[in-house]
Amino acid sequence: MSLKHYLQTNQSLVENTLSTLLPGGQEPPQRLNQAIRHSLLGGGKRLRPILVLACADAVGENRERVLPFACAMECLHTYSLIHDDLPSMDNDDLRRGLPTCHKQFDEATAILAGDALLTFAFELASRPIPGVAPETVLMAVRQLAMDAGIFGMVGGQMMDLLAENRMVDMEELQKIHQHKTGALIRCACECGARLGGGTEGHIHALRQYGSAIGLAFQITDDILDVTGNTQEMGKTTGKDEINAKSTYPALLGLEAARQWAAKQIDLALSHLEPFSRNADPLRDLARYITERTH
Ligand code: IPE
Ligand code: IPE
Ligand code: MG
Ligand code: MG
Ligand code: MG
Repeated sequence: MSLKHYLQTNQSLVENTLSTLLPGGQEPPQRLNQAIRHSLLGGGKRLRPILVLACADAVGENRERVLPFACAMECLHTYSLIHDDLPSMDNDDLRRGLPTCHKQFDEATAILAGDALLTFAFELASRPIPGVAPETVLMAVRQLAMDAGIFGMVGGQMMDLLAENRMVDMEELQKIHQHKTGALIRCACECGARLGGGTEGHIHALRQYGSAIGLAFQITDDILDVTGNTQEMGKTTGKDEINAKSTYPALLGLEAARQWAAKQIDLALSHLEPFSRNADPLRDLARYITERTH
């Protein structure tokens, strides 16, 4: 299966599942449910849930088990985008080709839609899974809590804001990117492997894989903010310079930033060496991280 076809098939699977799991737009409180559906179902690459599914496939072809957890990752990620776009953070008007949540609705609704998606994510992630020990589910839920919060994404978002209008060194920049973006991507891989029934060796290797592609993903996001176009990206490009963000292209220049990302992809691929053909989608996804144009 080509990567394009693989992505389309799995994007549809995730979107259809999310749509049935979530309350309908006509259910009360209507405004909240409509705001959630606007942000969650209006596009997006679905990379994190697809990584959960692909990692479960790589360790034991157990993707049906991990589908609710995969959807939880997308809810959590979408909450992070809704809050990231708020005027008090990156102040963006366009997301996934649509007006941002606070533009389409209002700031209070956007804050609540984010809060609701964060908590809904934990309801989904903690659902019992037939054939999986409750302790294993609990480990994954705990991992998600760690990687989403102070020690992961939220901590990274704070570091990102504190690094505006200031020069940071490579070490600090890498730390920001690993936290704000790398943590959830790594979590998707690790938890996909764990809930999919992987051995400790599998889980460790896929955690390392996730860590490397997670860093490469945010470096590429920074590059595309400079080189990409708004229509294709579905979000306004050129904003990092306007917001005086600390990014790889700002610190190193575009070419060196590309080389850093490529190095991470080589590293990610090396962690897949012990895996069979079942990990081929993960190999293709690693290359896609830096080759994508949106
Ligand atoms: C955007 O994430 C925010 C970052 C962490 C760079 P994605 O590029 O995965 O956004 P969607 O989900 O496809 O819209
Ligand atoms: C976002 O990083 C990281 C998150 C945790 C949401 P960016 O601020 O660069 O993401 P975009 O470019 O707005 O999607
Ligand atoms: Mg941001
Ligand atoms: Mg942003
Ligand atoms: Mg960005």
